[in-house]
Amino acid sequence: MTQSMTLLNAQIGFLATHVALIHIPLPLYPYFAHSISRLILHNDKRDAEGNLVLPSRSWQYSCPFVNICITPTECSVVCPRAQAEELFHPILNNLDAKARSSVSISTDDYSVITIAGAGLEAGERVLDLTSPLAIAGISIYFITSYWSDYILVPFAARSKVICALEERGFVFEPEDEGEAGHMTNPASPLLRSHHRNNSSHSSFDFLASPITPPPSTVSELQVKTFKTLVRNNVSPTVDPELYLVTCAANKSSTASLQAAALTLGLLKCLTTSPLPRFFSLTLTDADSASVTLGQTLLPLFPNEGEDILLGKDGPEQVAITLDLQTLPQESTGIVCGVAGRLIDGMKGRLGRELFNMSYLSTAKAGYVIVYRDELEDAMAALRGGEKDSINGRT
Ligand SMILES: *[C@@H]1O[C@H](CO)[C@@H](O)[C@H](O)[C@H]1NC(C)=O
Ligand SMILES: *[C@@H]1O[C@H](CO)[C@@H](O)[C@H](O)[C@H]1NC(C)=O
Ligand SMILES: *[C@@H]1O[C@H](CO)[C@@H](O)[C@H](O)[C@H]1NC(C)=O
Ligand SMILES: *[C@@H]1O[C@H](CO)[C@@H](O)[C@H](O)[C@H]1NC(C)=O
Repeated sequence: MTQSMTLLNAQIGFLATHVALIHIPLPLYPYFAHSISRLILHNDKRDAEGNLVLPSRSWQYSCPFVNICITPTECSVVCPRAQAEELFHPILNNLDAKARSSVSISTDDYSVITIAGAGLEAGERVLDLTSPLAIAGISIYFITSYWSDYILVPFAARSKVICALEERGFVFEPEDEGEAGHMTNPASPLLRSHHRNNSSHSSFDFLASPITPPPSTVSELQVKTFKTLVRNNVSPTVDPELYLVTCAANKSSTASLQAAALTLGLLKCLTTSPLPRFFSLTLTDADSASVTLGQTLLPLFPNEGEDILLGKDGPEQVAITLDLQTLPQESTGIVCGVAGRLIDGMKGRLGRELFNMSYLSTAKAGYVIVYRDELEDAMAALRGGEKDSINGRT
């Protein structure tokens, strides 16, 4: 029961948005660079009279959730459905048939779950949240930012998600209307009709002792995940030369010049040639921008990001890649299986208590982000998982 104690005080809520998931092959990136820049400049939010609506704080983004990722395999964008329609669909429609078929804009909407509050240890948190969903057969995307974790679940599976989490002791509670930082997105036509109550943001609260899934189920999930990965020839790979750092925009720098400096740096990253080898930007209306990027990109920010990016001098990170292109779209439990394997494998190895796992899903891949000094152990844990499942098959 000690594990469940770590869940106290945490809150889980749905962000008031419906997002689409966009996959763009890198050769087609230039066609979409303009759309992506517009998304970052958030100059598309207008009120009923058509006037531009700017966020009230300079660090705040105008939509509840956007994520833009550039990796060696793809550009992946998560953005509200309205922006996908307005910014990306017209470009897609102008491409020739072959190019068009290689880009995908999800037809299904996703809901974004955010995890706030203290008391959840990072590694266990991934497991505690993803295992009930994996057991319920719900496929998810997981995005860790500097500030929070976000889980994307199919909008159509929302009630199943609520049930799965409630069964594990989470309590679903609608929150008061108009909570700061969780503004509804008026551009989303789906929102109003699907919100049964008129609150703009609902949340789960943990009961005193949530029932974490029995370990046997979690280890079964691990075995199943690694069998799936092996069967589809997915092995973890790493570019040991690529050092990453996760930073966030400095919120105390209220000066609009600093906000402009941040935007300039981000746009430079997105237009540099060759394209960044790793760049993941998360924008929300609740916290300042968070970015995980190759360290060599920092000089693209004015003054090398000094005063602009918090954590830029933090420990170097490395991304372990799981290229999931060969996996069927409806594969479930990958994040949970990988997290379980890593947490088991890392126990006692670091000489520190807990392993802070960061995971980034893109449309076609998963990235486990670890500190440099954790890389060897993390790879050993993941390879151990592979071996187990190969042995398990023979
Ligand atoms: C809506 O509000 C009613 C009354 O407060 C409550 O009983 C019900 O559970 C709420 N439904 C949802 C989906 O939050
Ligand atoms: C909806 O909002 C109104 C006004 O804010 C409030 O009086 C009413 O109780 C709310 N209804 C529900 C079901 O939450
Ligand atoms: C954040 O910005 C403030 C105001 O410009 C500055 O004094 C402070 O040093 C910055 N913090 C970091 C960590 O860069
Ligand atoms: C995990 O994160 C917490 C909070 O940021 C930090 O205090 C702790 O040292 C981290 N643990 C490891 C093993 O990095």
